[in-house]
Amino acid sequence: MFQKNTTLGEFIIDKQKHFKYTTGELSRLINSIRLAAKVVNHEVNKAGLVDILGNASDINIQGERQQKLDVYANNIFMQTMTNRQIVCGVASEEEDDFVSIHSKNGGDNNKYVVLIDPLDGSSNIDVNVSVGTIFSIYHRVTPVGTPVQLEDFLQKGTKQVAAGYIIYGTSTMLVYTTGHGVNGFTLSPAIGTFYLSHPDMKFPETGSIYSINEGYYSHFPQGVKDYLKYCQEDTEDRPYSARYIGSLVSDFHRNMIKGGIYIYPTSSKAPKGKLRLLYECNPIAFLTEQANGLATDGYKRILEIEPTELHQRVPFFCGSKSMVDKVHSYMNQYP
Ligand code: AHG
Ligand code: MN
Ligand code: MN
Ligand code: MN
Repeated sequence: MFQKNTTLGEFIIDKQKHFKYTTGELSRLINSIRLAAKVVNHEVNKAGLVDILGNASDINIQGERQQKLDVYANNIFMQTMTNRQIVCGVASEEEDDFVSIHSKNGGDNNKYVVLIDPLDGSSNIDVNVSVGTIFSIYHRVTPVGTPVQLEDFLQKGTKQVAAGYIIYGTSTMLVYTTGHGVNGFTLSPAIGTFYLSHPDMKFPETGSIYSINEGYYSHFPQGVKDYLKYCQEDTEDRPYSARYIGSLVSDFHRNMIKGGIYIYPTSSKAPKGKLRLLYECNPIAFLTEQANGLATDGYKRILEIEPTELHQRVPFFCGSKSMVDKVHSYMNQYP
């Protein structure tokens, strides 16, 4: 067990021993994410003071109007990884296509690809509510030394090597897994160092929080409507509390600590759901399972979905095991 004052840098070096024949490449990659996170954090912290709030002029591939901080965070993460040439490719929510990183210094020789949601919850930026970054790391499947291909990014979530998020909140945290549990590190703003503050994070087996955008209630599938009725019933341990920030990272972080369920279902307005399989659902599902929770599309495991396109959307049900089991019992009545 690690001491609470272990730094993220020390922790990463120690964890290298989990990986046989390691070259330190994954450690360097996580270190570069840590560095980019600190730069973005600095900008998010002064967002009200400098001209970084509000819309940028572009609509992204998702059909969303980009915020200035979406663009800024995307540039910082892309540049940090590109300049260090520690990955052979990156795909981002904010880029139309994946970016292949190759150069005379041998970017093609790296073995990892990264998929990233550079700024999650961007609709919350202007009102000083927590936002985040989500990342997902895979081994490429095409040969090292050749340019990356789409198939390197379209891998099932079970193939992830590491995944995590940064939450820019009342304190800034980096939470990640390499498949050996979930650990959370809090940034000391004075020193600029992440310290282990939440070792071995686990979802409580059950909880009393449900997180869903109930404004879309009339558009939800019947199974979700029935489950919401269940959450609101007056019994000994219910009604549950509704908590919805509108930043997946923040809603997930709270539910993992307190026990709860997050649902972004299909709706007649968003027939495939809203959240992105590769940038949001897979990394959060990997963390969820590593923390004893369940993450599904309402019926089956998120991590086993075979991706067909980069910006694919899926419905997302994620949280404490017994709560996700319960919503399944309602969903299964309408297969
Ligand atoms: P992003 O800011 O990366 O585009 O993600 C927004 C996502 C997610 O963070 C959040 O949970 C969800 O959209 C909120 O959507 P609604 O406003 O439809 O509830
Ligand atoms: Mn977006
Ligand atoms: Mn997002
Ligand atoms: Mn985003």
